[in-house]
Amino acid sequence: MPTMGALHAGHRSLIARAVAEHAHAAVSIFVNPLQFDDGDDFARYPRPLGEDLATCEELGVSTVFVPSAEAMFPPGSSTTVSVRSLCAQWEGAARPGHLDGVATVVAKLFSLAGECAAYFGEKDFQQLVLVRRMAQDLSLPVDVVGCPTVRDAEGLACSSRNSLLSPGERDAATVLWRALGAGRRAVVSGETRPEAVAAVIADVVRSEPLAQLDYAAAVDAADLRVPRTCAEPAALRLLVAARVGPVRLIDNCAAPRPTEAVPPRGAAAATGSVEGVAASVGGE
Ligand code: PAJ
Repeated sequence: MPTMGALHAGHRSLIARAVAEHAHAAVSIFVNPLQFDDGDDFARYPRPLGEDLATCEELGVSTVFVPSAEAMFPPGSSTTVSVRSLCAQWEGAARPGHLDGVATVVAKLFSLAGECAAYFGEKDFQQLVLVRRMAQDLSLPVDVVGCPTVRDAEGLACSSRNSLLSPGERDAATVLWRALGAGRRAVVSGETRPEAVAAVIADVVRSEPLAQLDYAAAVDAADLRVPRTCAEPAALRLLVAARVGPVRLIDNCAAPRPTEAVPPRGAAAATGSVEGVAASVGGE
């Protein structure tokens, strides 16, 4: 399981699953310089190594790999991996070079690990799709396993960067999950235009004064392109990214295709609070 450390409940759920499903589970902890487009973000990324090692031991991990930057990328290293169809949009557009940095370090980790299963969170949905594509394109003997997003009671997805939020910003950050709930409700109510669903998500984010919207979208879960209609792709995914205080946060959820959508029963369901709908978004 590749990580950048500062292990939280989201990481723990992936690690626990890997440990439960395999005789030998390995975790890597490496704050990968190639994937940071902002030097400050890299510098202030939390690095509580002692606590992380204790967490791995407690969860029954057999190997923890903590390489130095020099070991991973010795002077002279010049090969990068780029998943062209996925690097230019959403996170790729917002953070130039970020996804190439992820693809490059994960390709290296997969090559070091050899045949294995690798656990990735749906929280970073574009990363999951990209890593799957890369493993397939490069014929790497790795089974990429996607795991559901772990959230706090208010729906905020666990993230190492959440520790950088003030209490007020943390409350404001729950707007991402509320916005996704509103977007999902629009699809369930029969909205088939991806841009209209995106606008619903965007409006909820914009209603939170401490949040600055980066993007909102309804996309094909397979390739993250915006489909002509929400009914077109086999699986639809809603994406959102916003800055809250000093931190940029991303989140996403599955949405039923309009043909599968069950119209809300009765007026109460149709006018239910965003929170109530968000709470029901659980089944990712
Ligand atoms: P990091 O942010 O440490 O995340 C490591 C893994 O944990 C990723 O697969 C991520 O999607 C997953 N994860 C993070 N938050 C989660 C949550 N709330 N619920 C479920 N899973 C969650 O993602 C990276 O590191 C790096 O890009 C990496 C893949 C290690 C390459 O450097």
